[in-house]
Amino acid sequence: MEQDTLIIEGAGGKRLIRGTVQVNGSKNDAVQAIAAGLICRTPLKLENLPQIDDVSKMLALVERLGGEVKRGKRSASILPPANLAHPKLDEEIAEKIRASILFSGPTLARYGEVTFPHPGGCVIGERPIDFFLHGFRAMGARVVDEGKGYLIRAPRGGLRGATIFFKNQSVTATETFLMAALLARGETVLKNCALEPEIENLVNFLKSAGGRITGLGTTTLTIQGGKPLSPKRAYRILPDRIEAGSFAIMGSLLAEELKLTHCEPEHLEALLNLLGEMGIGVKRGKQSVTILAPKGELKALKVKTHEYPGFPTDLQAPFTVLLTQARGGSEVFEAIFEGRVAYAETLNRMGAKIEILDSHRLKISGPTPLQGQEVSSPDLRAGLAYLLAGLIAHGKTIVHNARYIDRGYEDIAHRLTTLGLSIKRA
Ligand code: EPZ
Repeated sequence: MEQDTLIIEGAGGKRLIRGTVQVNGSKNDAVQAIAAGLICRTPLKLENLPQIDDVSKMLALVERLGGEVKRGKRSASILPPANLAHPKLDEEIAEKIRASILFSGPTLARYGEVTFPHPGGCVIGERPIDFFLHGFRAMGARVVDEGKGYLIRAPRGGLRGATIFFKNQSVTATETFLMAALLARGETVLKNCALEPEIENLVNFLKSAGGRITGLGTTTLTIQGGKPLSPKRAYRILPDRIEAGSFAIMGSLLAEELKLTHCEPEHLEALLNLLGEMGIGVKRGKQSVTILAPKGELKALKVKTHEYPGFPTDLQAPFTVLLTQARGGSEVFEAIFEGRVAYAETLNRMGAKIEILDSHRLKISGPTPLQGQEVSSPDLRAGLAYLLAGLIAHGKTIVHNARYIDRGYEDIAHRLTTLGLSIKRA
């Protein structure tokens, strides 16, 4: 693995940054937009694509299915094959990326069959796919568990519209069945849908391409089935609200003033309100957010992760680093995933005082100065949290498995270096 280590000289508690950082396109919007290419009859054009590993993997999966992919710097166009006898998702790629599950519905709906491996992902939780298997069965499909993966076949005549209730609000399950339903016969009603901005962006795009969908903005989406779509416009990827939030937390730790451009402040409400509560200065622009150093000490608080528009689980680990620098006792409740607080052990090795109460809850007392350490990223967002901890620590921090961070943060070392921080690849 080339250059899979980041070496950071920490700021030792000083506020070094006064500058601007541009937010890139959203990883979680991009991966679903690529899957949407499979339900289109004419090429799907994507704009504002981030140049990250997960996007390359998803485009490679389209090519391995026999689709045509043309890539620009931050753009791509996708044309899936007109028909496929036995579509198989490339196992070697699909099992490394949880988002590959997004291909299951579109492929099954378009070609009548799909084979895919248990989707991979990170260590944050068991990541079951029971909502998907239950939903496909409800639409008349047969599911064969082949051990290391699944073979799913639509009924003769194709998937049938159905009413599906998701036990939890699931982002990728909502997206997958929204796309599958557009090529099913008859009406599909999806209940307890997720409300993420990425889903709103997908629904608006699909409607512009001729899809008949009602209920946007509510947890019930009703979809009329029909033929493959013909996009009339490009799919413009949203700004990445998790990247923007990660940078806002970095600014809260290290900046006199940090301006984030090309972002959507309204997608960051939950975080920005908490930052304000802690004493951070927050200025909202039309497509920008400016983070200003607090007047006095940071105030401790309690936070619970929640489906959008609540506080995003993907910012939980980075936000905990900020809480280690707040005066008093803070609490974190990770309500979405059952394996997403273990990173706290490593922060404790750096000098934090975090008690892991159970697999969902942390108790933090601060402020605690952090010391540089040699650490390994277990997953994308914990990796970013370690990077933030290293940036504020006294001394040097070495972060191994930097490839996990590269999955969701484009060119991270270079972008932070231009802000005056000391971070380089080795
Ligand atoms: C999406 O994952 C995001 N990924 C995740 O971001 C994000 O953490 C998560 O939503 C929650 O916001 C993409 O959008 C590609 P879920 P997703 O299905 O859709 C349970 C990152 O770092 N569940 O919303 O896979 C599941 O266990 C990634 O960018 C089932 O039980 O997550 C969890 O408790 C990490 N059965 C809850 O639902 C299922 O079949 C929510 O998971 C599916 C999900």
